[in-house]
Amino acid sequence: MNDAGTDGRHADAVAADETVVEPPDEFRESAAVADDDDVYDAFERDWPDAWGRAADLLDWERDPDTVLDDSNPPFYQWFPDGRLNAATNCVDRHLDERRNQLAIRWFGKRGERRSYTYADLHREVNAAAAGLRELGVEEGDVVTLYLPMIPELPVTMLACARIGAPHNVVFAGLSADALATRIDAADSAYLVTCDGYYRREDAFNQKSRADNARLQADGSLEATVVVDRLGDALDVPLGEDEHDYGTLLAPHDGETVEPVARDATDLLFVMYTSGTTGRPKGVEHATGGYLAHVAWTTRNVLDVRPTDTYWCAADIGWITGHSYGVYGPLALGTTTVLYEGSPDYPDRDRVWDLIERNAVSVFYTSPTAIRSFMKWGAEYPEAHDLSSIRLLGTVGESITPKAWHWYREHVGGGDAPVVDTWWQTETGAIALATLPGVSDMKPGKVGPPLPGIDARVVDRDGDPVEAGEAGYLTIDRPWPGMCRGLREGDERYRREYWAETTEGWRYRTGDGATVDEDGYVTILGRVDDVINVRARRFNTAELESAIVAADGVTEAAVVGDDSGGVIAYVTTRGDVDPDPILRESIERRVANAVGEVARPDRVVFTPELPKTRSGKIMRRLLEDIARGEEFGDVSALRNPEVVGEIESTVREEE
Ligand code: WT7
Repeated sequence: MNDAGTDGRHADAVAADETVVEPPDEFRESAAVADDDDVYDAFERDWPDAWGRAADLLDWERDPDTVLDDSNPPFYQWFPDGRLNAATNCVDRHLDERRNQLAIRWFGKRGERRSYTYADLHREVNAAAAGLRELGVEEGDVVTLYLPMIPELPVTMLACARIGAPHNVVFAGLSADALATRIDAADSAYLVTCDGYYRREDAFNQKSRADNARLQADGSLEATVVVDRLGDALDVPLGEDEHDYGTLLAPHDGETVEPVARDATDLLFVMYTSGTTGRPKGVEHATGGYLAHVAWTTRNVLDVRPTDTYWCAADIGWITGHSYGVYGPLALGTTTVLYEGSPDYPDRDRVWDLIERNAVSVFYTSPTAIRSFMKWGAEYPEAHDLSSIRLLGTVGESITPKAWHWYREHVGGGDAPVVDTWWQTETGAIALATLPGVSDMKPGKVGPPLPGIDARVVDRDGDPVEAGEAGYLTIDRPWPGMCRGLREGDERYRREYWAETTEGWRYRTGDGATVDEDGYVTILGRVDDVINVRARRFNTAELESAIVAADGVTEAAVVGDDSGGVIAYVTTRGDVDPDPILRESIERRVANAVGEVARPDRVVFTPELPKTRSGKIMRRLLEDIARGEEFGDVSALRNPEVVGEIESTVREEE
């Protein structure tokens, strides 16, 4: 780890507001966890056994006797002798009580709607499970899902879970290259994709992107299933080993596939995410601990219950959508909204319109989205009746006090609790947040670690920092939602995340943070080579290697800007004119190699990049310039004179 971001500057910018907001009485009285439940003490007194409460939220084929096996750190096993099936927990067990209650309300890009009761979901998941079996998918086979936000995505995830086949969801907006890498890395022989989807008014051909990936992949793919999302709007011919989803499922309609009981420690899914090197890492989540932690936090942090209509706006292609768009809400038997479109189409009130029409009571989104809503203006939410909202959540990056208050005021009716939740792909579920019926909220600060989570902010030597001082966010004891390891192997997992201390093993989050007198944590940002772009995570080298592949480019450095976007600083060969064509080619290369989501918002050409004497690019300095922030002493640089030059280029272009 280097010390970028831990010197406290971002802390001032984020948490300048010292307001404390109490949970409203009405909420307190009905919250899932109330003050007198003493939950923090209970976890402290009775750790790790208190986590048995989370396991109790699930139905087990064989109840676990052991909560935690920590005999081989950092490879912790949660509920190791328990057996369960995740799909049974998300579907079958609700049939008695809620067979006709809606499980999923889907809204398509063109205003289409589809609703699934729990009985419908059961039928569809079983047919999909039987269809996958027919193709040869067996317990333990990894199935790659490359689908946009359509009901077939959660359905196939649950179908995989039902037959014990781990899924590997790849965000539909990622490129063919990215898909091929993930198919190969996961050793996946099966792919489920679709013909295409709408981008604004146009039909986009997803299948041809999947075809390209298939050509690039090392040939392990045996069968592809293609969902017909676009009907007549796009006809894609199916080749050998390619199956139409509807045709595959039809003969199995009404069949029941016996759920495969899995060990709690068996793999539920793999999710690729960016790490400290250019290649994405396959984060592996086990079935029991993951589902228990996700269900526990959906209930106790987001306060979701079966009677709610709940909407997590994150794409299922990322961890937030897995945990809080699919597994959490369905494990609890609630009604969940699945939205395919964008928030400003057909108009900027689309989100508020959906909340009003569906009486959404709990809404979970990212600061990036909230910033857009703010920019568009309060008149859009104000034109709708949002009184159904009971609780608001945010995740993915720090939220400024200003955005926090705006969210509460204009979306939460001025009194809904706003819960800022910190977690990561690797943690599987929320690890830091206030319990909304118990603790005060401090806008801009995430909050304390959840009960049972031993998070600390430590200095370089591993000692806890003083209140207000910047350090590294670490977690000392294991927690149920933690990943069980990396696809790339145990050694890599240990090396990337864990440190052995005198007190035991310590998980390193990669985030810088401060903590205040009350134990509330403020996140300062990543201290490694990961950047968060529009609340999604990329490795700087991943983007930079795509940029330097452009003809004439010599060096590149990417940094995040203050609105969640990305700026690329680029140097070119002496004989190359940095013209708009090169700029466009750079942007296109990133979009092709990684995905549209990572397309740089700005490309800034500069004669040199600022470097230390040892030749390391000073990314932190570039970030300060991008954010328009003060930067400190540059005399330690090998080429301090370029800093002024870069700064004036950036300002001129604004
Ligand atoms: C990184 C993890 C799992 C959520 C979606 C992103 C940043 C996450 C917060 C928050 C400030 C946050 C951290 C973390 N992050 N939540 N509430 N406040 N920063 O998952 O892609 O694995 O990224 O997102 O930097 O390390 P991810």
